[in-house]
Amino acid sequence: MANNIKDGFTSKFGIIAAAAGSAIGLGNIWRFPYILGENGGGAFLLIYLLCIILVGFPVMLSEFVIGRDTRLNPYGAFKELSPGKPWFIIGILGVFAAIVILSFYSVVGGWTLEYLYQAVLNNFENKNINDFDKMFNNFISSPFRPLLWHIIFMLINFFIVIRGIEEGIEKFAKIMMPVLAIILIIMAIRSLTLPPMTENSKAVDGLIFLFKPDFSKINIGVIFNALSQAFFSLSIGMGALITYGCYIKKDDNLGSSAFIVSMSDTFIAILAGLAIFPAVFAFGFTPQAGEGLVFKVLPVIFQSMKGGYIISILFFICLFIAAITSSISLLEVFVLTLMQQRNYSRKKASIIGFLIASIVGIACALSWSVLSEVKITLPTSSGEMYEYNIFSMLEFISVKFLLPIGGLLISLFMGWVYGKERIEYELSNENTLKVWYIHFLMILIKYVAPIAILMVFLNGLGISIF
Ligand code: TRP
Repeated sequence: MANNIKDGFTSKFGIIAAAAGSAIGLGNIWRFPYILGENGGGAFLLIYLLCIILVGFPVMLSEFVIGRDTRLNPYGAFKELSPGKPWFIIGILGVFAAIVILSFYSVVGGWTLEYLYQAVLNNFENKNINDFDKMFNNFISSPFRPLLWHIIFMLINFFIVIRGIEEGIEKFAKIMMPVLAIILIIMAIRSLTLPPMTENSKAVDGLIFLFKPDFSKINIGVIFNALSQAFFSLSIGMGALITYGCYIKKDDNLGSSAFIVSMSDTFIAILAGLAIFPAVFAFGFTPQAGEGLVFKVLPVIFQSMKGGYIISILFFICLFIAAITSSISLLEVFVLTLMQQRNYSRKKASIIGFLIASIVGIACALSWSVLSEVKITLPTSSGEMYEYNIFSMLEFISVKFLLPIGGLLISLFMGWVYGKERIEYELSNENTLKVWYIHFLMILIKYVAPIAILMVFLNGLGISIF
């Protein structure tokens, strides 16, 4: 099949910026802290790091290899690599996951815009943590504003993706990602040095919560959540990095790029944890505060900082950029697939992707207001009942099902069908680089990753649902 890739990253830094742009996003700053909070802190972090190294990294590298080798979208790539076999199902699941993730992702992307807007209006001033709690809950339970911001966020996505692998956003990301890291470092320092706000609340308890593993907290549900969070955060399991891999030049070192991307992603997630948890404890707040955690805690920290007004604006700009550089990679999966498989123009493919994700996203945006009665109750791994609204249901289906299944199939395919020779050939840039880690990598891809995913997934399913 002919690929019609004309764009391409011009430098190694360009690839890393784009792939890290995809990986680093709301998953790190918005999702990671509250999932960690809900899963017991330090023990979760430890398992999460193991998931990144043993499963996440090999799957990420596999996606880059498939993408650069075939220069095709996930669906087309598996069709070409294994004609007549059903591996292309990975591509179908991937496109489906892209749309589902994009629709709820865009809603949260919209929240970042609302908060940017509030920051500019100086509406955070003189509010305490309870005010922010109310402010967030009022915002998501109103029908109009979340919907409006979601559509605006999708439109911005659309205008970027329709231009192709855009020079602009890439350059912008290269500047804004480091700025984001610096702001998070400043916030972490501030968070750690906050005075106690109530009698027994100490910032340092946040550090203990984050880093001290309490092994009694580890159960299969926690492992399942860590694994799926690792997939979500690294942007793997549905072909987004196969898609970006298409644009990587033949002489770039895939191994070191994947390593740098996964490390920076992990670094930003931990940094977000350092900015959040000491403050949560200093304010005597509960660490499990759910989806709103970041939107409730960080604005309070801004209040206590000199120059908080400017920093809060900068922070939400960065968060928005982190979100948009991730969401374009989701839309791009869909767009590249339609362009290559259906011969659609980029414009037509982008319009279709925009429309579908916007419409599904409307249901997500209204999940706490007009559609708040649409709910499904399922048992969690600890046996309690959990009520899912449309938003959390779509998040659940994509992050807990589609990504692990995709990751499992990708590692099985790489280990057992594509095979060591071709992997080594691609990673060594046609035998010009030495792939010293190939044996270790093959053990991870052939055995460790698939067995780990399968075990965690089946157990997680058995206990948490149905
Ligand atoms: N990794 C992004 C984040 O952490 C989200 C994301 C972008 C994603 N592309 C993806 C998640 C592909 C899964 C698959 O915010």
